[in-house]
Amino acid sequence: MNKRLAGKRAVVTGAGRGIGRKVAQMYAAQGARVLACDIDAAALGGLDGIETLAADLTTEAGAAVLAQAAAALGAVDILVNAAAIVRFAPIPEMSFADWRTTTAGEIDTVFLVTRALWALLETSGAASIVNFSSANAHMALPGLPAIAHTAGKGAVLAMTRQMAMEGGPKCIRANSIAPGFTVTEETEQHLDTPLMENVRAKLMVGRLGTTEDIGHLAIYLGSDESGYVTGADFNIDGGATAW
Ligand SMILES: NC(=O)c1ccc[n+]([C@@H]2O[C@H](COP(=O)([O-])OP(=O)(O)OC[C@H]3O[C@@H](n4cnc5c(N)ncnc54)[C@H](O)[C@@H]3O)[C@@H](O)[C@H]2O)c1
Repeated sequence: MNKRLAGKRAVVTGAGRGIGRKVAQMYAAQGARVLACDIDAAALGGLDGIETLAADLTTEAGAAVLAQAAAALGAVDILVNAAAIVRFAPIPEMSFADWRTTTAGEIDTVFLVTRALWALLETSGAASIVNFSSANAHMALPGLPAIAHTAGKGAVLAMTRQMAMEGGPKCIRANSIAPGFTVTEETEQHLDTPLMENVRAKLMVGRLGTTEDIGHLAIYLGSDESGYVTGADFNIDGGATAW
């Protein structure tokens, strides 16, 4: 079978673990040349056949280092902005520091990396940006104190449309994926908490989402199969946000 991302040069942020890591691995398996970036250098270990780079993408300097490494690819055909940092707390208990950490981790990373790689995406001539919004950008979930997270993910949802608008004339598409609860090393800590009753009650498909579920959609959005798709947001949540 033909590899769906053959010849594509991809940058994946947040590739140390969770969704970003799985996307980097699935992209490489589909023939893409992948540059994987994460703040956690150790977490980038074991990504066979994938170039790796440690950088703090909440900083302009970190994004510049990533752009420098990506320049060696000649152009960037796919940018997957999966890096994120999130803090949860009820509104009266949410510290301003945690608010700032979350908005920097969820918004600044996406802006700084996209800006830094924009020229390389333009050089592609057929580029695709894949961002991560969230079910939380569309709906509140009882039991999840997500005030900063909703701000971050609502921002990514809106920013993606703007990227699509400004990217159109440059042959850069931009779409976002809105996962519902997806099992990762990070979210596993919630599995035995009361929150999960609310999560499971909303599922039409009788199981939780996996990083592989998300990876399949990320392959479609990164590939030329989605060449007419831009400015869109894709719910991938077992039906949770459909009612
Ligand atoms: N897992 C879910 O249930 C879920 C649901 C909705 C949306 N999402 C979104 O999907 C994306 C991936 O989620 P995940 O669950 O895999 O996240 P995760 O927390 O498991 O992984 C995020 C990765 O980003 C890296 N990172 C954090 N700060 C960074 C920085 N400053 N610079 C570079 N790298 C940094 C982390 O080290 C980590 O490896 C995120 O945008 C998240 O908000 C996830």
